[in-house]
Amino acid sequence: MLAVTGATGHLGHLVIAALLEETPAGRILAIGRNAQKAADLAGRGVTFRQADYNAPETLGPALEGAEKLLLISGSETGRRVRQHQAVIDAARAASVGFMAYTSILRADSSPIGLARDHRATEAALADSGIPHALLRNGWYCENYIAGLPAALEHGLIGCSGDGRISAASRADFAAAAARVLLDDGQAGQVHELAGDTAFTMSELAAEISAQSGRDVVYTDLSQGDYQAALEGAGLPGSIAAMLADSSAAAGRGALFDDGHALSRLIGRPTTPIGEVIRQALAA
Ligand SMILES: NC(=O)c1ccc[n+]([C@@H]2O[C@H](COP(=O)([O-])OP(=O)(O)OC[C@H]3O[C@@H](n4cnc5c(N)ncnc54)[C@H](OP(=O)(O)O)[C@@H]3O)[C@@H](O)[C@H]2O)c1
Repeated sequence: MLAVTGATGHLGHLVIAALLEETPAGRILAIGRNAQKAADLAGRGVTFRQADYNAPETLGPALEGAEKLLLISGSETGRRVRQHQAVIDAARAASVGFMAYTSILRADSSPIGLARDHRATEAALADSGIPHALLRNGWYCENYIAGLPAALEHGLIGCSGDGRISAASRADFAAAAARVLLDDGQAGQVHELAGDTAFTMSELAAEISAQSGRDVVYTDLSQGDYQAALEGAGLPGSIAAMLADSSAAAGRGALFDDGHALSRLIGRPTTPIGEVIRQALAA
């Protein structure tokens, strides 16, 4: 069985869809907290098992029969290292033969604060002795879609300066994860995954302007002012700080990559940001 945690999330759903294109549903094990969010997967013949990263006793039974496991990183920063360790421990106890983990671009040297949890998880995987591959994912294009209505209304803000961002769509990263689960010979591989085409925030604003017919301008702020603006817009302080930290690091090149490993792995060019914007504006 090919098991996927976080299967109820956005990336998890896309990984399962990509697996289903190449392998029978009976070979796929979707793991998540919320059975309701997996109803569509069960409807396609995929086995769903409930497990919570915070409840280690649920993880062993969920992994029974799993030969390979994709650990999709959790969404609760601060708790993730313990959560991921629990999954790795359960995988070892269940004799899982291979794991893949969704890390962050250049986790070993990334200045982005979010990279700390990923570095710790990569170390835990190394300590576990389980053969594994690292999917060091760059930024999702979709990260810029949630803010699209506000951007159309008020313009874009950030603190990335002229930093170039090699984002790719979630579907691209999902296709890569499915490929790594399906292929043999992936143990020990470190995949630095990013989009083929990079953009600055000003270029993103120009793309939104061109597609929407609205005049969208990017205003570059200091990291502190950007964080304060996000908090002023209602985001919790910790999330605002994380976003401002990531934006500032992007200004220093932390999200740029021109290695094209993602398009090589999935066998096609990655999805340009313009296409993701087009789909969002049409929705
Ligand atoms: N590269 C990027 O730009 C980027 C951006 C955002 C996030 N990420 C990372 O990539 C991951 C996947 O992205 P996504 O868009 O699919 O995020 P998502 O839609 O929020 O999915 C997160 C998944 O993790 C599951 N999860 C969270 N806490 C859990 C727990 N305690 N026990 C079991 N499952 C748990 C969620 O379960 P529920 O469905 O029950 O909530 C969900 O299935 C995120 O979790 C985050 O680590 C990367």
